Amino acid sequence: MLSEQRSASKTMVGFEHVNKIFNPGSVNEVTLFHDFNLELEQGSFVSVVGSNGSGKTTMLNLLCGSLPIDSGKIIVDGQDITNLKEHERSKFIGRVYQNPAFGTCPHLTILENLALADNKGGSFLLQRGVNKRRIDYYKTILEQLHMGLEDKLKIPVKALSGGQRQALALLIATMTPLKLLILDEHTAALDPKSAEIVMELTKKVVEEKHVTTLMVTHNLKFAADYGDRLFMMHRGNVVFDVSGEDKKLISIRDLTNRFDEISIEDGN
Ligand SMILES: Nc1ncnc2c1ncn2[C@@H]1O[C@H](COP(=O)(O)OP(=O)(O)O)[C@@H](O)[C@H]1O
Ligand SMILES: [Mg+2]
Repeated sequence: MLSEQRSASKTMVGFEHVNKIFNPGSVNEVTLFHDFNLELEQGSFVSVVGSNGSGKTTMLNLLCGSLPIDSGKIIVDGQDITNLKEHERSKFIGRVYQNPAFGTCPHLTILENLALADNKGGSFLLQRGVNKRRIDYYKTILEQLHMGLEDKLKIPVKALSGGQRQALALLIATMTPLKLLILDEHTAALDPKSAEIVMELTKKVVEEKHVTTLMVTHNLKFAADYGDRLFMMHRGNVVFDVSGEDKKLISIRDLTNRFDEISIEDGN
């Protein structure tokens, strides 16, 4: 009975009155975010959909500090992180990109990649002897992928398939404690079967770590099937936002209809 009692929900991420203009003052000026506000509840797994150019990647870039905001605030876990640099934010924000080449170092072995991730945030030397106990630990977590990678510790990551690399990238991103996990179309470059495997792994990791997760995807099935909240973006705004029971009832068809409505509003 007690396990059913949930503590009052806490906000993990907040965009507060965020403005972002590209190429201000030029003929190419684009106001993408105007007074943008968004809150993500701690522990929530949020899917984000939206047409090309709706602002999904920029939103992630603003959150990770890859791009600065013009005004407003970005809050993570009660801390105003607006002025923190990207590398400072990366200590508590993990990110997996669309391109399987981005999340891992291709020329380093699986073992070296894991050892590097393990030392994220601390000083690190690529020591000749990685602690034996750590190696056993790496093998244990690799076994959970059911990809046989635990027997390939010494092979360079570039020799792996896209799906294997994304699975590894996910492990690496979540190896140290995180406040936030960002997935930027992390299954888009994979074949359907690998995409399914990586999505199932994502679900497992998110559940195990209870990490607040923001996943941008073009895959409406994944957006509908996974996560406990879903929102749709259009021209730098959240135009549709469902969670809880409503989220469970969302179908691909509902989402396609929403896209059609937006497209009609745009006169297409
Ligand atoms: N570096 C940039 N310079 C100028 N405009 C940009 C830049 N990045 C994004 N934009 C503008 O913001 C819009 C949204 O881009 P983006 O966030 O990449 O969309 P999405 O990821 O939803 O496809 C683009 O259509 C473009 O007008
Ligand atoms: Mg994008």
